[in-house]
Amino acid sequence: MCGIVGYVGPRTALPLLMAGLRRLEYRGYDSAGVALQKNGHLDVMRAEGKLDNLAAVVATHPSDGKTGIGHTRWATHGRPTEQNAHPHVDCTSATAVIHNGIIENFQELKAPLVAAGHKFSSETDTEVVVHLLEDELKTGKSLEDAALAVLPRLDGAAALVFISTTHPGTIVAARISNAGGVIVGHGKAENFVASDMTALLEHTRDMSFLEPGDLAVVTQKDVRFRRIEDGATVERAPKKIELDPVGAAKSGYKHFMAKEIAEQPRAISDTLLGRVDRTSGRVVFDADVKMTDDFVKALPRITFVACGTALHASLVGKYLIERLAKVPCDVEIASEYRYRDPVVSKGQLTIAVTQSGETADTLAAMNASRERGARLLTFCNVMGSEATRISDDVIYLHTGPEISVASTKAYTAMLVDLFLFAVYLAQRRGTIAANVAAQLLAEAFHLPTLIDAVLREEGKIRALAYRYTTAPNFLHLGRGVNYPTALEGALKLKELSYIHAEGTAAGEMKHGTNALIDKTLPVVAIALKDSVYKKMLSNIQEVRARAGIVIALATDGDTEIEQHADEIIRVPAVHELLSPVLAVLPLQLLAYHIADKRGNDVDQPRNLAKAVTVE
Ligand code: F6R
Repeated sequence: MCGIVGYVGPRTALPLLMAGLRRLEYRGYDSAGVALQKNGHLDVMRAEGKLDNLAAVVATHPSDGKTGIGHTRWATHGRPTEQNAHPHVDCTSATAVIHNGIIENFQELKAPLVAAGHKFSSETDTEVVVHLLEDELKTGKSLEDAALAVLPRLDGAAALVFISTTHPGTIVAARISNAGGVIVGHGKAENFVASDMTALLEHTRDMSFLEPGDLAVVTQKDVRFRRIEDGATVERAPKKIELDPVGAAKSGYKHFMAKEIAEQPRAISDTLLGRVDRTSGRVVFDADVKMTDDFVKALPRITFVACGTALHASLVGKYLIERLAKVPCDVEIASEYRYRDPVVSKGQLTIAVTQSGETADTLAAMNASRERGARLLTFCNVMGSEATRISDDVIYLHTGPEISVASTKAYTAMLVDLFLFAVYLAQRRGTIAANVAAQLLAEAFHLPTLIDAVLREEGKIRALAYRYTTAPNFLHLGRGVNYPTALEGALKLKELSYIHAEGTAAGEMKHGTNALIDKTLPVVAIALKDSVYKKMLSNIQEVRARAGIVIALATDGDTEIEQHADEIIRVPAVHELLSPVLAVLPLQLLAYHIADKRGNDVDQPRNLAKAVTVE
């Protein structure tokens, strides 16, 4: 999820590109770069780290080129270094590309280019495109025709933008798939491209939106659109945009949290992208996972260390790994683990789960485990963060920046990555039959559609939420793989609404929690049609017998639940091991709408911070 901006017109492009990148920095901020056309050559400037670093570079090398492109990176392939920052150029530095997304088949495309003598200077998937373009341009094609020849060869999600000294004053932009939007901004005798409208609003309100499969040819005077599949010309009439810049960063949503909840179908598609080898049916992680077969086969134990929401994801991870890969797992609260004298088994793996990769307690727990001989694997969203730097192996969430303090899309991405890892371990250890793995993975790839179906029920969940905005307490009950969902639902509710909420394993109620139940207590019971369904029904009876209000989370088509619940929220049927991904979504929405109705600061709840870098 990178930021893209481009300008062609009579003005000096550099300040416009830098201002656009500032507005897009939330999309990615591990490196940034610009390329400008200037007297038959390209001025390319790039810098590792935040945009301020690029600003320092361009301040000492000002370029007055009038056509240019800029990029702020959220790294996927290749470390967040200056060398891997976009734009990438071809062997002659005549053509430059910027890219948002992943090119899944870049290895296959790269090998023949290297054999033909192309010199690569980065570890990215993106660079392959500019070398392919170089070959097409050598045959005398125009920039747009060269792009039309290259783009159909790329697999994966992507938006790409090109400039070349061979075609001064022209920007070519392409949207290959649903992920990676591209917008053209129509100015007066100047035109723009960007990955989202935030970057353009101060210049123009007239914008055309590329459809998947569109290519735009943008010059100072005009903008044309063509289809990538056959080169046919299409119309993409500009629309008038009324949004204010802050609203635009939230894509029109009231809060970042609402946007991040809604983004989950796309975010989970990105997490799944490229993770299963189509021919072997095996889960693959990129070069950042280096465990040997011997290590994987001999694994005596896995210890998870994490905090908050990431801890809840880890509890699901334990369930998945024990069930599929048959490795015993412990889940440790990082702030407890670091101050014990933890026992680490010989040959064990310690897994840190962390969105930010900067949580102080998690980092300290990782170090404590490492000192005692554990190998470290991190599941993380932020490329290049401290947790990724100190780990032996890293698996990225690929869910894009999460701005809202309360974690939503990172949680579901953690669940999906942990599921993939459990299948991966099981395949490497030989504890899963090929047909079982194939069926589970096929269901996982269906998740974005199912998530979308749950989120479409938002109206009903909002209405339900509004009926409980004054409840003093909430209880969330779950069992099995959805016990952590109960913990996560309660955490979301308390941190956002400031209503006291407790998550409990339903089987534990009779050991104390039952004393809380009376007619004022809403009880969210996760009662999906799974292996513990009947047990949950018994727990629901216990709540009803004490006059508690039952809000049941039930599977589509389950009619039995109707006689046991006061309120029902439905989710589609899915394999039990994947059900936490769907079950948490209504609980995120419930917490969001109760908090919003109570007038709370949803994106920045009181007393909390996004990255907890202190103890
Ligand atoms: C709750 C939430 C926190 C974080 C916790 C760990 O919505 O976001 O509980 O999960 O602070 O943060 P990371 O995952 O960055 O280590």
